[in-house]
Amino acid sequence: MKCFSCFSSSKKKDERDASTTSAGTNTEGSSSTDVPASSSTPGNSSAEASNTVPNIATQKFTFRELEIATKLFLDECVIGEGGFGKVYKGTLERTGQVVAVKHLNLDGAQGSREFLNEVSMLSHLQHQNLVNLVGYCSEGDQKLLVYEYMPSGSVEDHLFDLKRGQQPLDWFTRMRIAFGAAEGLEYLHDKVDPPVIFRDLKASNILLDGNFNPKLSDFGLAKIGPVGNNTHVSTMIAGTYGYCAPEYAMTGHLKVTSDVYSFGVVLLELISGRRAFDDVKPTHEKSLVVWAKPMLGDQTRYPDLIDPLIKNDYPPKGLKQAVAIAAICLQEKASNRPRMCDVAMALEPITVADIESPSPRSSTSSVPPLPDETSAAKGTSTSGSHNA
Ligand SMILES: Nc1ncnc2c1ncn2[C@@H]1O[C@H](COP(=O)(O)OP(=O)(O)O)[C@@H](O)[C@H]1O
Ligand SMILES: [Mg+2]
Repeated sequence: MKCFSCFSSSKKKDERDASTTSAGTNTEGSSSTDVPASSSTPGNSSAEASNTVPNIATQKFTFRELEIATKLFLDECVIGEGGFGKVYKGTLERTGQVVAVKHLNLDGAQGSREFLNEVSMLSHLQHQNLVNLVGYCSEGDQKLLVYEYMPSGSVEDHLFDLKRGQQPLDWFTRMRIAFGAAEGLEYLHDKVDPPVIFRDLKASNILLDGNFNPKLSDFGLAKIGPVGNNTHVSTMIAGTYGYCAPEYAMTGHLKVTSDVYSFGVVLLELISGRRAFDDVKPTHEKSLVVWAKPMLGDQTRYPDLIDPLIKNDYPPKGLKQAVAIAAICLQEKASNRPRMCDVAMALEPITVADIESPSPRSSTSSVPPLPDETSAAKGTSTSGSHNA
């Protein structure tokens, strides 16, 4: 990503950064290097104008405002911690809005780039399955991101190491989460022009609102996809161990199909309640994909994949369909993986109890259905854990 003038802004604290024009141009600053609405920024094509709202009103906050919001970054306000620092629950004094404030612990230029990337990406993307960036703060070394607060935390919080008394997710909630995440990726891949490759899909980056509707978060690693005749984007390899597509981990060639592979891993996590990579497990079970592979090709073994916490509370047809979708997403050969629109279409009917009822989406869509589970399982990846 190039430079974004908003970070050298001297505007008053209450002024919004997203000085929006109808073309989605950030008018702040005058440098010729200002690029938020250039071809390297998603969501500025007229073709997808009805699907995106360019330059959503992303606010710039002062450090002081965020200190007040989080009671001076009080330990009791911490709601999570990731690779880039702590996340606090806070309340904005100006509006009373409850937010999540991520206080970034950035490591040099790379971290700063990811911060800029996240702000610029999320400022130009809007979909019900993407987390909303309320604003950011950039004061010297202090870099913070302010998101809408997602009361139910992340999918990771509800799948693994449940606290005593915590209810496990039921089957249909899991499938609805998978469907929503698939729709978020479909938006990035097919409805934004040029496409955006999310690059870090994992259970902890799928956040849940009060009704367990999923939203993708963390766009620090996201990449604008290939344009013109290019088939891939060459990048430094990044992502999370256990979720990374094998060809991307080996070559650094990034395509939208890399996200499809990661989605397959997340879907397997939702089905099995096992982590993509779990160092505590015996060698052959550490990698979820390696563990699951023999079962993916054998329908009679599908029930062995199920999270024991689900017990028998799942529809066999739904399980069959979900495993088939996971298997096809995990195919070794990237070109054999489906598009996310196909995945979303195949998942939608299994989000509700009656699998027979026709889905409004499938009756209006022109995309072909997924191949059946037998052919899906044949090409299943043999390598599941790759160093990213
Ligand atoms: N917008 C948000 N609302 C509620 N909780 C959040 C939000 N963003 C992050 N969190 C919580 O903070 C945790 C850490 O998030 P993050 O810093 O993105 O690291 P990671 O994705 O590596 O877990 C998440 O797993 C989630 O539980
Ligand atoms: Mg995250």
